Amino acid sequence: MRSRRILVVLGTRPEAIKLFPVIRALSARRELSVRTCVTGQHRGLLDQVLAIADLVPDIDLDLMAAGQSLDELTARMVVALGRVMDAERPDLVIVQGDTTTAFVGALTAHYRGIHVGHVEAGLRSGNLWHPCPEEANRRMIGRIVQHHWAATDSAAAALIAETTDPATIHVTGNTVIDALHWMRDRIAATPSLAAGLDPIVERIAGRRMVLVTTHRRENFGEGMASIAMAIRRIAERDDVAVLFPMHPNPQVTGPMDALLSNAPNIIITAPLDYPHFVRALALAHIVLTDSGGVQEEAPAFGKPVLVMRETTERPEGIAAGTARLVGTDADRIVAAVTDLMDDKAAYARMARAHSPFGDGHAAARIADLVVAALQVIEGNDTRGCGGAA
Ligand code: UD1
Ligand code: UDP
Repeated sequence: MRSRRILVVLGTRPEAIKLFPVIRALSARRELSVRTCVTGQHRGLLDQVLAIADLVPDIDLDLMAAGQSLDELTARMVVALGRVMDAERPDLVIVQGDTTTAFVGALTAHYRGIHVGHVEAGLRSGNLWHPCPEEANRRMIGRIVQHHWAATDSAAAALIAETTDPATIHVTGNTVIDALHWMRDRIAATPSLAAGLDPIVERIAGRRMVLVTTHRRENFGEGMASIAMAIRRIAERDDVAVLFPMHPNPQVTGPMDALLSNAPNIIITAPLDYPHFVRALALAHIVLTDSGGVQEEAPAFGKPVLVMRETTERPEGIAAGTARLVGTDADRIVAAVTDLMDDKAAYARMARAHSPFGDGHAAARIADLVVAALQVIEGNDTRGCGGAA
């Protein structure tokens, strides 16, 4: 039997973090020929992860443009990824999550009748606009792929509620926990990987660190301004230092630089590479974020997460009491942080290490599921509806 061709498509930082364990697990299977295509939806953020994971993509579309709009990014990507599908003719395409890259990867494969496996399937906030466009992307991907690899039981249940065939849904755990364990162990073995944080640790000197990340599109504008105000007020405490590795989107850097530069007690850095971020997470007292991946990682380290959103597609942390939704209202964010800072019992209730998102073995399960999926695909005679003219 010829080796079966798998094409893994990724484009942003979180996709790279969550897919490198999968790519490794697949590459260890000798019966598979694994190719990776990065769209380059992100550049610097993506390259940071590719470097640390020793991942050299087979194809790099290098699509990022500064300040890209969803329209132009999507349009460029449909054409470029369509060509890749035609040239590679994979048996199975793998996409992850809910980015433009994941959606267009699934769409261009669908046009050609190629089966798609979706890693981290079934996340739903229940609100089409929060997060936007990710909730729409996930729902659209969920309708056109054949293999749904859900991280948790509740994600699987969301798919079943949408009448997805249960036989196509498998609960795997989230590969972000595989990545986190791998990174934590590598830092323990080679501390120099994250030694760039030493000067920051010295500056923080005994104060409690609030680690902040923000980049959600629906928080642009007023939300960002309000988050900035909250950070300023939190940093007024002399027992606190804020560490804020800033996402390079101009919609984030513009207002944040304007509102936070020169504010005391706030350490703003460029995005940290994964080892440095994982070390920062381990040192943090509280995590304040609107990120999806950070919501999954922080509980594994026993860090309370205050989620600067009104909804989440990751209810497991909320249900366990280790995450709280605080929105973007400055008063509400400051009150939640103050509560955790001043009330030891409240802090202890949230600071419990647990890992509802995975056990660190998700990638191996997905590799097994890929092999199983290929058996189904063997007899597939779907030719799609045509991509290229
Ligand atoms: C994207 C994803 C979002 C994901 C986030 C992870 C979509 C629609 N959005 O949002 O789901 O949570 O990535 O971080 O898929 N930029 C750089 N360098 C980089 C990356 C981004 O300069 O390495 C700047 C560029 O100006 C770029 C802008 O950020 O145009 C926006 O990037 P984009 O991927 O469109 O959106 P994100 O907000 O990063
Ligand atoms: N991350 C990182 N450096 C940073 C901030 C985040 O390496 O400065 C990692 C983090 O550990 C997590 C992932 O990036 O695994 C989350 O990506 P992001 O918040 O950009 O996207 P989301 O998860 O919201 O889609």
